[in-house]
Amino acid sequence: MAVIGIESSAHTLGVGISENGKVLANAREMYSIGSGGMIPMKVADFHAGNVRKVVRSALREAGLKLSDITAIGYTKGPGIGPCLRVAQVAAKTIAAQYHIPIFPVNHAIAHIEITKQLFHSSDPLTLYVSGGNSQIVALDSEPYMHYKVYGETFDIGVGNMIDSFAREAKLTPAWGSTVAKVAQGGKYVEMPYSVKGMDFTFTGLLTHATKVLHSGTVNLRDVAYSLQETAFAMLVEAMERALFLTSKKDVTLCGGVAQSTRLQEMLKGMARSHGTRFFVAPNEYNADNGAMIAVVAEKMHESGIKCPISACTVDQKYRIDSVRVAWQ
Ligand code: FE2
Repeated sequence: MAVIGIESSAHTLGVGISENGKVLANAREMYSIGSGGMIPMKVADFHAGNVRKVVRSALREAGLKLSDITAIGYTKGPGIGPCLRVAQVAAKTIAAQYHIPIFPVNHAIAHIEITKQLFHSSDPLTLYVSGGNSQIVALDSEPYMHYKVYGETFDIGVGNMIDSFAREAKLTPAWGSTVAKVAQGGKYVEMPYSVKGMDFTFTGLLTHATKVLHSGTVNLRDVAYSLQETAFAMLVEAMERALFLTSKKDVTLCGGVAQSTRLQEMLKGMARSHGTRFFVAPNEYNADNGAMIAVVAEKMHESGIKCPISACTVDQKYRIDSVRVAWQ
């Protein structure tokens, strides 16, 4: 059973193919952001212009034809509305033309599930960190099986916070990795630290770091280092509290910001100090990708979920905890 997944929630257009849980293809094209950030309609135009090509690349990589595909998935959300529409329309078109079932997939769940699958970790506590999201989640069976959010950002995602700082500092994309490079060898200067239970906020940290940077009293390297250390320490502290509460045996890290080697190191240190296993997927699966959408669509298909094509919408704010996890 080969399942195809299409992802277009932000600047990456990804098409992946999964068969019996194994990734057969993971093709992508990425819109080049430039220094001005993302203009939704321009990114959506890029995706629409490339979707046929990336579908063909994925099929070639897997050695399959569209007629060999037994089901299709697409990212329903969360994400940028006009961008989400591209995967939705492409998936609905293929589903209608080839008479195959279609599955709307939650983007955060896709990052979590592909990590679980790669490491055979069935019930981890996860830190999901990306541009727009920062959440601590784990499976919970009440009132039905779903990913419960134990903690999350009250304002902006950690990725957007780091990107905003990088733009203020006139750094070049990709901003997260540029900030990490600039921060190397930095010294710590005090920054606002805001954790409330298992929730956190980042705008105070961003405002303060930007002010200090523009004041010229502290060099960029030290501000970048302190900003990064503070943000990641907040996330790890909240995760440690959630780990005590949930007593999960595995900790996973996923999403775009999971590619940060410093965050990986800090979270792994915390997990290991409590005798907990730690897993983070290769960057290919933490960057946005189609394979993770295919993997979840395959699980949805196997569990007997049915989604009429007319109900296949997009939702920019699609909450992870609104999804019933029927495949677990
Ligand atoms: Fe993502």
